[in-house]
Formats: sequence, C-alpha cells, structure tokens
Amino acid sequence: MNPAPNLILIGPMGAGKTCIGRRLAERFTLDFVDADQAIVEAAGASIATIFELSGEAGFRQHERQMLQGLLAGRGQLISTGGGAVLDADNRQAIATRGFVVYLRVSVAAQLERLARDRTRPLLQRPDREQVLLDMAAVRDPLYQSLADLTLDTDLYTPAEATAQLVLRL
Ligand code: S3P
Repeated sequence: MNPAPNLILIGPMGAGKTCIGRRLAERFTLDFVDADQAIVEAAGASIATIFELSGEAGFRQHERQMLQGLLAGRGQLISTGGGAVLDADNRQAIATRGFVVYLRVSVAAQLERLARDRTRPLLQRPDREQVLLDMAAVRDPLYQSLADLTLDTDLYTPAEATAQLVLRL
C-alpha cells in the first residue's frame, strides 16, 4: 500500500466514513481513529453537548486541536468529521499527513441514511435537505481539492465500498 503516513477519510455526514474506515483499517492493519469519537472521549461530552455548550465554533476548536494532534502521528486510518475541511489548518494537515480518500454521497442518500439520526446537531431541524445541499455546495470543492482517491458510496454497502477501495489503494 501507499507509503503515506496515514490513510485519511474525508466526506460528508452519512458517507460511511466510520463503517468503511473500521473495515479498511482492519484490512490494512492500521490503527482506526474516529476523530469525532476521540473528541467525545477527550472532552467527556457528546458532540451534541459540545455544540449546546460551546456552539459550532467551540466544536470546531476541539476538532482542530484533535486533528492536528492525530495527524502528527502515523500508521493510522483517521476518519474525519464532515466539517473538518472547512478549516484551512485542517486542510493543510490533511493534505500533507496522509493519503486522502474522499467518500462521496448524494444528498438523497444522506437523507435516507440519516433519517433517524439524532446525534448530529447540524441536522436537528426541519429543512435538513436544504442544509445538506448548502453544505455540499461549500464543501464538495474542498473535499475534491484534497482527494487522492474518490469513491461514490451511494450504491455500495460498507462491505462493498471497502472492497472497491482495497482494489484501488
Ligand atoms: C459535522 C459532521 C459530524 C460531526 C459534527 C459536525 C459536519 O461528523 O463532526 O456533527 O459539520 O458535517 P460525521 O461526518 O462523522 O457525521
């Protein structure tokens, strides 16, 4: 496999970063790290609570600090939160500290996959579809600019998407 220090998954909520990341990490014997989970453990609070207490800006600070720390290491498969690419320092670290896989997903598939999700504060509102469309408009070019490899996940189960990536990595 690629000699990059880490394998980094980027992409929107519901793209399957965590599910696919776990499988890929096992396949390539890398340490799996979910950045959101690491933030929750370090802060001792859920993502929803961090948003409630410190707002999105506060969460982004936790996220920046966590990602800078994680990306300094090597041998890891790092699954990043969907908004991590909004920050220029995060983008710089992502671009230089690993092989970057963009897991793409359509808004229609996101709506289906996240229909019952209550853990993502940015989606706890009635106009989810518009929120996701607006996010995609801003973030898709950023994901694309960082991607070494892109996989459309709409038509794949996590197991199928992992198999596709194993073939291409
Ligand atoms: C966010 C995505 C979430 C989490 C937080 C904000 C975003 O991560 O970091 O709710 O801004 O897209 P996932 O992409 O893992 O769901």
